[in-house]
Amino acid sequence: MLISFEGIDGCGKTTQIELLRERLNREKLPAEVLREPGGTDLSETIRGILLNPDIMMNPVTELLLFSAARSELVTQKVRPLLEQNVIVILDRFYDSTVAYQGFGRGSLPIDAINQMNHVAAHGLVPDLTFYLDIGLSEASERRKDMEEDRIERAGQSFYERVREGFNYLADNNERFVRINAAQAPEQIHEAVWRRVSALLS
Ligand code: TYD
Repeated sequence: MLISFEGIDGCGKTTQIELLRERLNREKLPAEVLREPGGTDLSETIRGILLNPDIMMNPVTELLLFSAARSELVTQKVRPLLEQNVIVILDRFYDSTVAYQGFGRGSLPIDAINQMNHVAAHGLVPDLTFYLDIGLSEASERRKDMEEDRIERAGQSFYERVREGFNYLADNNERFVRINAAQAPEQIHEAVWRRVSALLS
């Protein structure tokens, strides 16, 4: 089973992923968390380049680097784990590319991004995607004490487009579960767990 978590920076993904992992552990179900971009030596190296505020790059280059990191993660980690029946939890997957590089940066038309995503993910599609939906002001309030990486420096109107991208995806994909991320973490976790346990049974 492949589960992904999505949302704008500051939506609380990391907390929810940790709560889900603990819950699956308690249920004695093998689960592994991987992050994008990252998760292999090469993908973590690419992550360092992508998030480095001192490196400028063309939007298409950015798209290709996220895709390259993804191809490695899928072939080296995600696919082998799924073959061993491990539940894989992804901290972002290609929906982030639609939202950030498609809607946010306008690097290529969404159709072209979808094709690129299909290639980079080697055809893998998540069984469930949790979209933690949060307002822009609340998200930036939660991020305020953290140092900004290259992506986060893009500013408010960029994030408005990214959020629009996630909303578009949530409205058009059955696998998306939209959750109001302004709720208490335990409440969000219960909503997540209801959907995961339904899928498990
Ligand atoms: P993330 O690990 O969620 O950020 P952090 O470690 O700061 O919580 O994601 C890293 C950044 O990369 C985030 O700003 C979103 C961005 N991103 C894209 O722009 N496109 C993508 O395809 C992915 C996976 C992430």
